[in-house]
Amino acid sequence: MPIQEDFPGLQGLCYLDSAASSQTPHQVVRAMESYYLEYRANVHRGAYALSSRATDAYEEARQKVAGFLATQPEQCIFTRGTTESLNLLAQSLCRSLPPGQRIALSAMEHHSNLVPWQQWALHQGHQLDWIEVTADGKLDPDSLTQVLDRKPAVLALAWVSNVLGTINPIAEIARRCRDNGTILVVDAAQGVPHLETKVNELGCDFLAFSGHKMLGPTGIGVLWGRAERLEALPPYHYGGSMVGMVTRQKTTFAPLPQRLEAGTPAIGDAIGLGAAIDYLRGHGMDQVRAHEKALLTYALQRLQEVPDLQIAGPADPEHQSGVVSFSLGKKVHPHDVATVLDRRGVCVRAGHHCCQPLMQHFTDLWTPGARAPVSLVRASFYLYNQRHDVDRLIDGLLEARKVFNR
Ligand SMILES: Cc1ncc(COP(=O)(O)O)c(C=O)c1O
Repeated sequence: MPIQEDFPGLQGLCYLDSAASSQTPHQVVRAMESYYLEYRANVHRGAYALSSRATDAYEEARQKVAGFLATQPEQCIFTRGTTESLNLLAQSLCRSLPPGQRIALSAMEHHSNLVPWQQWALHQGHQLDWIEVTADGKLDPDSLTQVLDRKPAVLALAWVSNVLGTINPIAEIARRCRDNGTILVVDAAQGVPHLETKVNELGCDFLAFSGHKMLGPTGIGVLWGRAERLEALPPYHYGGSMVGMVTRQKTTFAPLPQRLEAGTPAIGDAIGLGAAIDYLRGHGMDQVRAHEKALLTYALQRLQEVPDLQIAGPADPEHQSGVVSFSLGKKVHPHDVATVLDRRGVCVRAGHHCCQPLMQHFTDLWTPGARAPVSLVRASFYLYNQRHDVDRLIDGLLEARKVFNR
């Protein structure tokens, strides 16, 4: 995929941090520029041509999202990102359930799919259950069965782990949730940008993702839901645009999707996300996945050349997206590795990756009893990366090891 010229931000850079935020191609910036310079106006309210044009572009972006997910536009709610989508769900679902329900999470969740559930469960008197993770970073099948046997009201689960790259078998878990009456919420922040997504085939009830991890701008994301599930959600924010009739005493609410989009939305950002989707579809999500899988396979091979390197996760391209995290042993701190790599123009993430319970899991496995939890270096690939990026990573890791292992 020789597409570097579309990404001016990549010049000379070995960017291996797309799991945190991807780069943005010209095409996305131009779409947003056109909105800001040519037809900027608010949506859904103006009775003039400029506002109609802005409304059409905003709703067209929603249609592009719907096409990308193989669903209907009114089932796609624009939010500020995965975090806001998950907060909306945690608050609305936890508050609408009778107290004393079970909410299930896995030990590989990002804090965005953990803290909102934990806090609203505490607030509403629900109980959390945990699906444990195996030593090779997959969901523990026995633990999954135990948790599902307790018939949780909600299971909130990552499609793809942002640390391990593990691709969880959502379609199979969704079938078991349906038999149970469990609402399945999928954190797809690391899934939708990299894997072809057909929500009805996945079979979940809700799905959340962010634009900035899939070539789009920051500040925009999506909450998708089954129509009947979305209909049953109480509004999360109140304000303009989401109402039908307002009197001094009461308010009726607009139909979906407006009912869940209070206030002026992120219009330019939604249009940018639509352009990002056009770009990804232009390449084909099957091609994106094939490219990342090939890069991961190559990276897993070459990482074996680095002494003392320990991978956290499956190390299996069939069940792993283009994300790989590792440690270089006790003597070499991940932040120091990242600094050495940065001097060579290689951008990676280091630390706990917003997954402290998962880091505790690997601490218990790798350094039991240690005071300092395990922290990891993470390299993540996207459609613009190439094999020479992996080579630069390996050269940098060998140098870091030489410097700090003296
Ligand atoms: C798996 C996962 N969930 C949720 C999030 C939160 O996404 P955002 O910060 O875009 O809201 C991230 C971001 O890294 C993530 O990787």
